[in-house]
Amino acid sequence: MEEEKVMRMPLIGDIAPEFKAKTTQGEINFPGDYKGKWVVLFSHPADFTPVCTTEFITFASMHEEFKSLNTELIGLSVDGLYSHIAWLRTIKEKIVFKGLKDVEVNFPLIEDISMNVARKFGMIQSNESTTQAVRAVFVIDPRAIIRAIIYYPLTTGRNMQEIKRLIIALQRADRDKIATPANWQPGDDVIIPPPGSCGAAKDRVESKEEGKYCLDWFICFKKDKQ
Ligand code: BEZ
Repeated sequence: MEEEKVMRMPLIGDIAPEFKAKTTQGEINFPGDYKGKWVVLFSHPADFTPVCTTEFITFASMHEEFKSLNTELIGLSVDGLYSHIAWLRTIKEKIVFKGLKDVEVNFPLIEDISMNVARKFGMIQSNESTTQAVRAVFVIDPRAIIRAIIYYPLTTGRNMQEIKRLIIALQRADRDKIATPANWQPGDDVIIPPPGSCGAAKDRVESKEEGKYCLDWFICFKKDKQ
């Protein structure tokens, strides 16, 4: 009997699985083609479906904003290349959503009829659908490490502003060694990571550093360096 290959779903902190794929922008090799960049790899259930259409228009309208964060977008569904091309053309020529019209999707959309990439990333979740990918989002850093994963069901469109906020928060955490509080937006105060010792906790609470304040010994804030 042929042995079925069991793949573990990738988790935060893992190196993202490698793949080579055909896309609407030509062949891509991941991560080789994306050295030094952040990547948002996201899956959607199917072409020519309404929720996915609104997601693609919204992502495409924010493409430059993501690029300015050194971030590339890559979409995926288990449809074929000609279906992708026809759908993206229909979006550009016919669909107006929230005032966005004539929207061209310039980021690659992977054809994954074999489900090769979708399976590697755990995007086929069989109790939701065996034939369509769920709405997964993988945020992958310039070292190809998975930094965040979001899964949404078929019926719920994602919030692209939240995905952008997540990337900014991760980049700030890396750059300034801080954390970000609930509902943080760029410019809001950031959290100084918890102290590792009693001495450090005392120093932090007593520190007179400009703009720094503590609500208690374990929760201190400072200004965001934008
Ligand atoms: C949609 O994108 O509209 C959709 C796709 C699969 C199931 C339900 C909705």
